[in-house]
Amino acid sequence: MKRIAVLTSGGDAPGMNAAIRAVVRTAVEKGWEVFGIYRGYEGLVSGNLKSLGLRDVSGIIQLGGTLLGSARSLEFKTDEGQQKALKFLEQHGIEGLVVIGGNGSQTGAYALSQRRFPVVGIASTIDNDLYGSEITLGVDTALNIALEAIDRLKVTASSHHRAILVEVMGRDCGYLALMTGIAGGAETIILPEMETDPERVAKELREAYQRGKSHALIVVAEGAYYNAQRLSEYFKEHQELGFELRITTLGHVQRGGNPTAFDRLLGTRFGAAATDCLERTDHGVLIGFAKGKVAITPLGDVALKKKPLDLSLWKVSQVLAK
Ligand code: F6P
Repeated sequence: MKRIAVLTSGGDAPGMNAAIRAVVRTAVEKGWEVFGIYRGYEGLVSGNLKSLGLRDVSGIIQLGGTLLGSARSLEFKTDEGQQKALKFLEQHGIEGLVVIGGNGSQTGAYALSQRRFPVVGIASTIDNDLYGSEITLGVDTALNIALEAIDRLKVTASSHHRAILVEVMGRDCGYLALMTGIAGGAETIILPEMETDPERVAKELREAYQRGKSHALIVVAEGAYYNAQRLSEYFKEHQELGFELRITTLGHVQRGGNPTAFDRLLGTRFGAAATDCLERTDHGVLIGFAKGKVAITPLGDVALKKKPLDLSLWKVSQVLAK
């Protein structure tokens, strides 16, 4: 292999830059030429690339976001878009591609590998919803950002005897909400993976108030049917909580931070493993992390299987909230 390319796609995640840096530097060490594709699959379809050398990835390991930019491309999902992408790669003599991203991005990587192009994916999304990786790149940073916000919210909630509904990201997956809620000592956690009875939630909050708690924290996953807006509407119409209620939606704040040490190291290990895979022609796979090690999973499994959330932790969270 002489020439490879790397792209970041979908929602950015802290640690992507560490992964890009590792891909570039380990590939250069192998004597390869590396190209960065700008703005994900959109750049692959429209032909937006730049050669990346050792110095182009200097000073980025500590930065959030992605040096290469990211996008969600509708055109790449079409047969025509994928043909264009392959033609572009061929025109530039590129023989291997590293795709850093989450679910949608790895489905795209699978599509290219089914068309016999050598692709290696790197599991990267703050949602942690990717089959093949117990933990994905960016989750640790997003979790710590959400947690810092929650610690602050608890302080002001306590001063005013309030309940605060905090909505966290995660798309259809409750991982971020569950972990943030447990680590932040939430009174209750609302997840997309389980049905929520808003009356039960209101009862728990009322009881917490009656037990003399100075505040109540409800962490809600954005993908839950009872997200922050629906739940607050329900409380307004049906229930007296005891506490006065306030709502905070953390949104993209969770994605924008500088990567933690964990994500810098994970991105670095993922990037190095990706070029090793390309070198030994082990492609059509996702680089993830399982049982304390880098794990390699066929992209076909990643595209087709779902990663379940461990709901036993939710039960623990309810016990601890007493
Ligand atoms: O997939 C990452 C994620 O941050 C989700 O948690 C969220 O639902 C979505 O992306 C937001 O997407 P966008 O940045 O396009 O608004």
